[in-house]
Amino acid sequence: MGVASVIEKYVFGEPFETGAVVARIETAAGLPAVGTVTADRNGFRFTCTMAPKDIVYGLGEANRGINKRGYEYVSCCTDDGRHSEDVRQLYGAHNFLVIAGKKPVGLFFDYPGVLRFDIGYKRQDILEVSCDTADMALYVIEGESAYDIVKQFRKIIGRSYIPPKFAFGYGQSRYGYKTADDFREVVQKHREAGVPLDMVYMDIDYMERFKDFVPAPEIFPDFPAFVSELRARDIHLVPIVDAGIKTKEGYSVSDEGKEKGYFCKRADGSDFEAAVWPGWTNFPDVLNPEARAWFGGQYGLLTACGIDGFWNDMNEPAMFCSREGLAEAENREALDTAEQEAPLVMAEGLRWLKLFNNPEDYKRFYHNVNGKLVRHDQVHNLYGYNITRGASEGLSKLEPGKRFLLFSRASYIGAHRYGGIWTGDNHSWWSHILLNLKMLPSLNMCGFLYVGADLGGFNADTTRDLLLRWLALGVFTPLMRNHSGNDTRRQEFYQFEGPEDFRHVIGVRYRLLPYLYSEYMKAALHDDMMFKPLAFEYPDDEIAARTEDHLLLGSEVMIAPVYVQNACGRYVYLPEEMMLVKFLPDGTISQEVMPRGVHYIEVGLNEVPLFIRNGKGIPVADPAQSVPELDLSTLKMIGYENASYDRYDDDGVTIPE
Ligand code: GLC
Repeated sequence: MGVASVIEKYVFGEPFETGAVVARIETAAGLPAVGTVTADRNGFRFTCTMAPKDIVYGLGEANRGINKRGYEYVSCCTDDGRHSEDVRQLYGAHNFLVIAGKKPVGLFFDYPGVLRFDIGYKRQDILEVSCDTADMALYVIEGESAYDIVKQFRKIIGRSYIPPKFAFGYGQSRYGYKTADDFREVVQKHREAGVPLDMVYMDIDYMERFKDFVPAPEIFPDFPAFVSELRARDIHLVPIVDAGIKTKEGYSVSDEGKEKGYFCKRADGSDFEAAVWPGWTNFPDVLNPEARAWFGGQYGLLTACGIDGFWNDMNEPAMFCSREGLAEAENREALDTAEQEAPLVMAEGLRWLKLFNNPEDYKRFYHNVNGKLVRHDQVHNLYGYNITRGASEGLSKLEPGKRFLLFSRASYIGAHRYGGIWTGDNHSWWSHILLNLKMLPSLNMCGFLYVGADLGGFNADTTRDLLLRWLALGVFTPLMRNHSGNDTRRQEFYQFEGPEDFRHVIGVRYRLLPYLYSEYMKAALHDDMMFKPLAFEYPDDEIAARTEDHLLLGSEVMIAPVYVQNACGRYVYLPEEMMLVKFLPDGTISQEVMPRGVHYIEVGLNEVPLFIRNGKGIPVADPAQSVPELDLSTLKMIGYENASYDRYDDDGVTIPE
């Protein structure tokens, strides 16, 4: 018999209104029935015991496995490009988890500051969640199963962001494209080789001296004309927008922000300054509704040029150093760095001085929240969220009803309503393909559906086989983007031999796009997950529950990508009979029914495998060079005979009701 679904909200102290939960939930009296809470001058602490076999799901963008048990994690949006196994904090702060056991329970800690999760780390049977202040809103969700709890949680945090259909195409990016011809070359090389492409991303070098929203006039004397030139080839240019606004007289965003008092301020009321790529910058105070609306309006400078997609970066906010931090270091080290136009050149020095993303700097500035000054460190995890919110609200004012491509690096639950996220500066490491895979269901649990990793890896040098294997996972992720750092080996497909392999693998994305789009939209419109752990569909299967390198995609498909170097294939576990489907390099599709159990499947570097669940089928189209070129008259069903599929579709441009 099912357990009644119940969501209870407990309030301790005076929690900051984060806006993560949109449903009205009355505050319950007393203490939660589950666990023990202490909330006092020493902070907040929740503890409960876990049975040996309980699995803990959630935490969205977090390190390690789908089952978070056995380690500790910290919610503190952090710019750190080294996601090794011991790293506890990444760019997102997603404080929702589910303890799946005999009596499953969901917990959402709505708290905007630094929050620590010890999930069986100090003691394997104890979960402890703690922070330094006792102002907390805790939601406790009961339900029939972990999946049921997730669906209830998703209902109270509001509908996930819906991108335009073109955003489901393939995108090429690199930190280092500078000239108009750099971008043209990317497009030309893809089109010449018949490798599909819909988006080219513009990293910080498109800007005039790293000023947000200002394309460098010497590179783009007529930027709108350049945007249209590429649009005529079915390419959307997607510029980056960093959080720090260059401090510079004569730069309208800087002048206006200063004049209107819209930047974050020091205790003495002056504008806080930190060095980022442009040199000294100010941070828009996006926690102040007026300033947020003003910041969102700035996107109009680029939409007026025909831009319809953006990626928001460095919004933890990342900083190389603050004025104060630098002055202190100069005193301490007897240095004289003098005024630098671009402290960027001192980057290594600043790293050495430990000034990078120094938590002390987050105590040096304030937000004006409806007239009340709030010190940044207390609401740190809301900054990237509100940048994205500002962008989204600004864009919908500029062009009401239109979908824009928008994703961010830092986030908090709530941001999922306004944009997607990418998972930041990963490495060209095989282990990061697996990390990418494992994060997908956790992100979906927290509302983030439009997600993806830098395919091929951002840091370190990629290799052809790694890129192909990663693309074969990226084929399934809503955001499919190849992106890399400026000091790494180039990783566009044309840097490697055998373009036909890339044409084929990326082509599979387009063949599956009608299905992937449909599944994305169903998940968004019904507050559901697109990627699920196997246990969510096969709850009684112990092996499925411990299998973390396969995922369910929608209701029809299971994926199990290869993530091991030099492997010719891999072992898979099928929790039921399924059909192995392979998109073969000659364009044909092989289908083979396999019984429940463990199988070794061979997978060539140029093949994309997936499994269709027993009795189901999915539509596939012929490959296309871009999303608008997809020809739906070529759709045919694959999978089990006579299976039907209810395909969702729409114009891909307007926001559905
Ligand atoms: C940050 C971003 C990365 C970008 C770089 C330069 O490291 O995460 O994607 O390429 O900044 O803008």
